[in-house]
Amino acid sequence: MPARIYLDNAASSPLDPRVREEMLKYMSPEYGNPSSLHRSGRLGREAVEACRERAAKNMGADPSEIVFTSSGTESNNLALKGIAFANRDRGSHIIISSIEHDCVLNACRWLEKVGFEATYLPVDSQGLVDPDDLKSAIRSDTILVSIIHGNNEIGTVQPIAEFGRICRGHGICFHTDACQSYGKTPIRPSDSMIDIMTINAHKIHGPKGAGALFIRKGARIEPLLHGGGHEKGIRSSTENIAGIAGLTKAMELCAAEFDNTIPFLIRMRESLILKVLDRFPFAYVNGSRAFCLPNIVNFGFHGYEGEAMRLLLLLDEMGIEVSTGSACSSNASENKPSHVLAAIGLNPIQARGALRISLGRFNIESDIDSFINAMSEAFKKLHSLSNE
Ligand SMILES: Cc1ncc(COP(=O)(O)O)c(C=O)c1O
Repeated sequence: MPARIYLDNAASSPLDPRVREEMLKYMSPEYGNPSSLHRSGRLGREAVEACRERAAKNMGADPSEIVFTSSGTESNNLALKGIAFANRDRGSHIIISSIEHDCVLNACRWLEKVGFEATYLPVDSQGLVDPDDLKSAIRSDTILVSIIHGNNEIGTVQPIAEFGRICRGHGICFHTDACQSYGKTPIRPSDSMIDIMTINAHKIHGPKGAGALFIRKGARIEPLLHGGGHEKGIRSSTENIAGIAGLTKAMELCAAEFDNTIPFLIRMRESLILKVLDRFPFAYVNGSRAFCLPNIVNFGFHGYEGEAMRLLLLLDEMGIEVSTGSACSSNASENKPSHVLAAIGLNPIQARGALRISLGRFNIESDIDSFINAMSEAFKKLHSLSNE
């Protein structure tokens, strides 16, 4: 079988062999439950705390500000619900953007069901939130603002430091979901006045099922998981030592290789856009070309509205793996139009015609040519099917 070409790194990026090697060390019986008092337990505790220090250093944070979790979804739920419940005495109003990942959006909708109020900020046609809209949405009872940093579907990167400054000025807790942007932009919570920040490992060539939350010292948060009081009582459950080690190693590799990887991804992304627009003049880019992640492009194709799912399946038959919208949402498999594309002004048919291509450090230039040749074949097949 010919090698498959993976262009869906925003859904999940392939595990870096160096991360796997690091994780394997901690899968040995030597490492016990970090809460146990014997030698194996102590080794487990040392491993977790060493990772916490390294992860904190990577973020420019204090080790006490890092809480390890099982995923981006868990971190985002803990951030939204934890902050909302811990600050209920101050107010019940929450502000999020209308292009959040489903795990923020649905956590917020759930909070509305239990008595909180929410404002959903609009975005412009590039997917950018206007800081003035944030300012006007803030009320005296606003307790939390959550705005995604790099969008997972269209790649738009928000002016996060500006939002941080506004929230800090009003004394409001500011959370950002940085799952897609961490390691691909130079984001640091302290530089952008971020109080809470979500990251996960599998978007940065780490393992699935590992994530973390930066929680600025002094921020009030109510735990969601009650148990043995792990992670300073914020997130009970025996620590996933290998997952934590994998996340930490993945963060370090991103930092060590940032100066090579990011220019490479930017070059690849630009080359992909230019080649697609040249070969298929009916193609267009959804989202911003100026304020964007280095690795995500979302294309629409005039005349092929509604056809993304068929294009994806034809590409898949030819060994090319891409995505319609976000793979992390059941909307993609159910072919429901994406709320992100709707928010930037696409109608449901146009939204069902969008293909997301997301690059990673293991892609090579020829992957782009293979994608374009496969797209050309796919368009021909769609034509012949519609003429039958
Ligand atoms: C922006 C963003 N936030 C959160 C998540 C959820 O992370 P996880 O898959 O680790 O639960 C994802 C993707 O999966 C994402 O792209």
